[in-house]
Amino acid sequence: MPDYGALRELRKFVAPEFVFGVGARNLVGRYAVNFAINKALVVSDEGVEKAGWLDSVLHSLRDEGVQAEVFTSVHSNPRDFEVMDGADLYQKKNCQAVIAVGGGSPMDCAKGIAIVSSNMGNILNFEGVDEVANPGPPLICIPTTAGSSADVSQFAIINDIKRSVKIAIISKAVVPDAALIDPETTVTMDPYLTACTGLDALTHAIEAYVSNAQSPVTDLHAREAINLVWHNLLPAINHPDDLDVRCRMMLGSMDAGLAFSNASLGAVHAMAHSLGGFLDLPHGECNALLLEHVIDFNFDAAIERYVSIGRVMGLEVDVNDPEQSRKNLVQGIHEFRVAAGVDRTLGQIGVITSALDELSVKAFRDPCLVTNPKSTTVVDIKGIYTNAC
Ligand SMILES: [Fe+2]
Repeated sequence: MPDYGALRELRKFVAPEFVFGVGARNLVGRYAVNFAINKALVVSDEGVEKAGWLDSVLHSLRDEGVQAEVFTSVHSNPRDFEVMDGADLYQKKNCQAVIAVGGGSPMDCAKGIAIVSSNMGNILNFEGVDEVANPGPPLICIPTTAGSSADVSQFAIINDIKRSVKIAIISKAVVPDAALIDPETTVTMDPYLTACTGLDALTHAIEAYVSNAQSPVTDLHAREAINLVWHNLLPAINHPDDLDVRCRMMLGSMDAGLAFSNASLGAVHAMAHSLGGFLDLPHGECNALLLEHVIDFNFDAAIERYVSIGRVMGLEVDVNDPEQSRKNLVQGIHEFRVAAGVDRTLGQIGVITSALDELSVKAFRDPCLVTNPKSTTVVDIKGIYTNAC
């Protein structure tokens, strides 16, 4: 009998309506009409615009007679003032809905714009769990990476520039009304972006699977996500135009999103958020460089779950030999990310040891740490950062 976890405990599962498949992005015009939208704010970024995906979405809206205002002033690790600028434009142009086309940054920014538009006040006021009083206007997300899964999650992560810290907004109000998940949009990702976003998805799945808030339903998605990402990420990097492989990666990412949105995350994300807010480092790469070190630390608190992850990956693991299993899993994940081309250390991407105290305190305060399977102190976090440097 598989380990179903604490079945008697109450667990909620939230997911948006979604359409998955090649060409899903072209349904955006029809969805906008169904939501009775005359004018939408379309949030994207320069990279996605250059790749042509923004244009194809605008085309679909135009075909259905829906007007669009475009906002592309979004950087990676989206900043609080970018959300406020987008919300200003939304108000000035009398928009009725927000449509995001892009990776995690435009989607999180769009979520922020939506809730500011219906609740007023600064985006930073909504930090925490269930702090959004009014639902936002219709929100449609079209992801262009197989990684962040903001299109199916109840998370929005925004960079508080003054405090140099990423805040988490966790609320049903940031679950999109519709996600149009089109694997074709991922073929234009370069190999490094494919690797970093894919390793982000793998981290989502692993952290959800060992989370204190897991449930049989999140387990189902987490295990399948690990299976899909593990077996398709390297083929996606080596054969970027193979649409079948891109479809499997997108499905893995979506499964990982459904898992972590409902089971939450753990120390890897708490520590990556701290790095992203303080040093503006890329989210997926931070996760990739931390994952093996957090597993090394957490392993003894969730042996059976980590062994089961190792089995899905085809690694040599056995609950009766936890020490060797821990080593094999840590080594297997290290080799996997190096094979994906993510082969540096935190030190090599700019993390200096004198920053570790502050980074550790900020990671300790991140809400993702609450569901880490092992209770973790500031000193523990500093130790993990040190190992990853
Ligand atoms: Fe993530």
